[in-house]
Amino acid sequence: MYESVVWSEDGIPHSLRFKDRYHSCAGGLAQAATVFVAGCGLPGNWRGKTQFTVLETGFGLGLNFLSTWAAWEADSQRCDQLHFCSVEAYPVSSTDMVRAVCASVSSETDMAVLGRIQGLAQQLASVWQGLSPGIHVFHFAQGHVRLTLAVGEVGQVLPTLDCQADAVFLDGFSPSINPDMWSLSTLQAVALHCRPGTTLASYTVAKSVCEGLKQLGFLVSKCKGLPPKRDRLEAVFQSS
Ligand SMILES: C[S@@+](CC[C@H](N)C(=O)[O-])C[C@H]1O[C@@H](n2cnc3c(N)ncnc32)[C@H](O)[C@@H]1O
Repeated sequence: MYESVVWSEDGIPHSLRFKDRYHSCAGGLAQAATVFVAGCGLPGNWRGKTQFTVLETGFGLGLNFLSTWAAWEADSQRCDQLHFCSVEAYPVSSTDMVRAVCASVSSETDMAVLGRIQGLAQQLASVWQGLSPGIHVFHFAQGHVRLTLAVGEVGQVLPTLDCQADAVFLDGFSPSINPDMWSLSTLQAVALHCRPGTTLASYTVAKSVCEGLKQLGFLVSKCKGLPPKRDRLEAVFQSS
């Protein structure tokens, strides 16, 4: 049984369970590109590397994964292997994932990029089934793109993941609504997957998140957010 997504009239997907939006009203693809992909220094940071790993908390509608994959595909200097490793307790249906891409169109949308992401969403939808709790691995782009989806509670599955992250996307609904995704123990488990230089991005600059990250060895910056949000977060892991 997949998680229900409720669509508001303006095309924004909502979670009934968490009573929050899956992404900002600026659009999921705009948020993915600006806050997460660019916020982690991509595509530049994967250039010159053989493999690059992104760790995400909250796979949701897959927009961050699809945007990262599209940015990788469009980059002539991309790394050879892209590994995207994400945690999700409540997978949504492939129908909602594909709908989320189409619903993300805004006045800023580059229609050529949207067309490419729609094609990638169809590929993801074609393998999206039987997501029981545990680890699921999917291969795309002739094996150059690997998605590891850990289905389960973040506190249980994140510490068990076998991945060293080059970039981290923290995307787990609002910290005030869903503190488990942002607790110090969750951030600690994230930090255990980081190395000096790992970049991290999020849309939230909640004090507890910034302070927790600093305490764990991240250099944290508040950056100009994607309107209507004033701020977004960028961080770099120094050392524990
Ligand atoms: C804002 S959405 C993520 C959006 C997503 N990154 C995207 O690109 O579409 C947050 C996700 O975190 C998941 N989540 C919330 N609490 C969780 C928990 N304790 N453990 C694992 N996943 C959780 C939700 O089910 C939801 O799909």
